[in-house]
Amino acid sequence: MTAINWAALNAAAKAASEQAYAPYSQFPVGVAVQAESGNIYYGCNVENASYGATVCAERNAIAAAVVAGERKLSALLVYTPQRNLTPPCGMCRQVIAEFFQPDAPITSSNHLGEQQSWNVQLLIPDAFTPMYLAASAKINKDS
Ligand code: THU
Repeated sequence: MTAINWAALNAAAKAASEQAYAPYSQFPVGVAVQAESGNIYYGCNVENASYGATVCAERNAIAAAVVAGERKLSALLVYTPQRNLTPPCGMCRQVIAEFFQPDAPITSSNHLGEQQSWNVQLLIPDAFTPMYLAASAKINKDS
């Protein structure tokens, strides 16, 4: 298993935060994910004049990994240049649960070099994951 390159994740997430499109909230977010391949992907939040169309940095980083062909992700780092260390929002936790194992580390860091870590299981216990759909497909097939 490839080691998690936290320094590279932090640098990528920080660079991504500098590209954030956040004119409404003034809350730039950058996220980097490391896939099991060892490759790193990143994304920023992209807001919209129709506020609900905003997409968080977490989902944009995961989408960048997916379009590159990745399906198994190992670690995620959120960077926000503000004192409060930012955990992923509820919708992003659901998307994280799709591609990361329950023990995968999810870390937040800031411009002061501070950080806080969780894992997927802690952020979204009893997540609805693809295995439930697989179970449903099997039941439907058997009946
Ligand atoms: N945001 C993220 O990108 N990730 C999070 O984990 C929390 C919120 C964005 C969405 C919006 O552009 C801004 O931060 C304020 O909510």
